[in-house]
Amino acid sequence: MIGNFTEENSVETVNTRMGDGIDPRLREVMAALVRHLHAFAREVELTQEEWEAGIAFLTVTGQLCSGERQEFILLSDVLGFSMLVDAINNRRPPGATENTVFGPFHVDGAPERQMGDCISLDGKGESCLFTGRVIDLHGEPIEGARVDVWSDNSEGFYSVQQPDLQDKWNNRGIFVTGADGRYEFVGIKPVSYPIPDDGPVGKMLAALGRHPNRPAHMHFLVTAPGFQRLVTHTFVGDDRWLGSDAVFGVKSTLVAPFEHVRDGRTEWRSPFDFVLVPVSQ
Ligand code: BEZ
Ligand code: FE
Repeated sequence: MIGNFTEENSVETVNTRMGDGIDPRLREVMAALVRHLHAFAREVELTQEEWEAGIAFLTVTGQLCSGERQEFILLSDVLGFSMLVDAINNRRPPGATENTVFGPFHVDGAPERQMGDCISLDGKGESCLFTGRVIDLHGEPIEGARVDVWSDNSEGFYSVQQPDLQDKWNNRGIFVTGADGRYEFVGIKPVSYPIPDDGPVGKMLAALGRHPNRPAHMHFLVTAPGFQRLVTHTFVGDDRWLGSDAVFGVKSTLVAPFEHVRDGRTEWRSPFDFVLVPVSQ
């Protein structure tokens, strides 16, 4: 018998087409995706023109992707989808440092530096001492933790956004903790910046009356054997975009002190401890 595809039976018609013996997780995920996608079209009574505009938007988004630019992840970020997936995958006990969005500007293989070294190679910006400990949930120091850090420069650009103007490793480095769990490095007090907004995602934000800015932050990727990987930032507390981060990455526990220093080696000092959770927890 020929089963007609109708508005009413659309989900079952598509989902029962999947073969026997396929990966059960793939079946679960695809069935839910079809269910929600069809429910979306039904709820808004999607017009043919809107469907075409959506396809055109996704096409341009894909065309802009390259080794250096990932417009689809940016789309996921501004829709809050990246942070939702991050939250689902990083439920942590009270006291543990919270995760936040990874972002597109991390570069693998940053140089390992000596504790206390300066990561700002262009000498621009307001110098800041970042310092603290990597500890477990009981406050015990974690030895051998790799603290991989990266930030924008004083003009709001990451080194990878300006390959002709900045050293690849400007404002980047890895610091490995000793027995006391301490880390310490000199960088700059980060500044806020707009996410790349010259593509379809930027156009979409403008159409929605949204700004593209992220509040000033320092990125940290902290790893240690036996502990869950921590991807996080520390935020500058008085930033004007703190309440409306374009990618929803702000968590109040991640707002760090930035203390103005008199007569010190740096203009600012930002103390912050990272609390890691064992892998088994
Ligand atoms: C970042 O913090 O580097 C970032 C995160 C999401 C989108 C764009 C940039
Ligand atoms: Fe960033």
